[in-house]
Amino acid sequence: MYLNKNTVLDCKIIELPKIHNRDGNLTAINSGVEVPFNIKRVYYLYDIPGGEMRGAHAHFELEQLIIAASGSFDVILDDGVTKKSITLNRPYYGLYIKPGIWRDLVNFSSGSVLLVLASLKYSENDYIRDYNSFLNLKNGNN
Ligand code: TYD
Repeated sequence: MYLNKNTVLDCKIIELPKIHNRDGNLTAINSGVEVPFNIKRVYYLYDIPGGEMRGAHAHFELEQLIIAASGSFDVILDDGVTKKSITLNRPYYGLYIKPGIWRDLVNFSSGSVLLVLASLKYSENDYIRDYNSFLNLKNGNN
């Protein structure tokens, strides 16, 4: 199967609009407007035990925006050549991840909530969960 040759440089932080008043803040995200894809699915990770690691996979097609809705965590992006670690700790920043990028999610703060906006419905066929397979596909050795 073909794996997209996107690199970590194709992933970026998107600053989301923040509506601020003395009662607190609000951020709204519209499909295809603040995010460069149509949103088909929303999911969130929570109650993550201390020291736990999530992610550890890449996607063939899926585009995602990852947001620290509460607390903080690090996202380690890996394109098979370069790794880049990004800390998310504000609910008005989203990390846009293109297809074909391995990601590890680490260093979750207590009570953190990791919100994901996704371009496709869930499909296990879209996942690569074995790192050596990822490297082989990425480097075109198949
Ligand atoms: P997984 O993607 O491995 O979690 P993470 O990358 O956040 O560590 O998914 C964990 C489990 O949840 C796995 O059994 C698949 C299931 N799942 C769904 O049923 N629907 C979904 O939209 C997602 C993201 C996962």
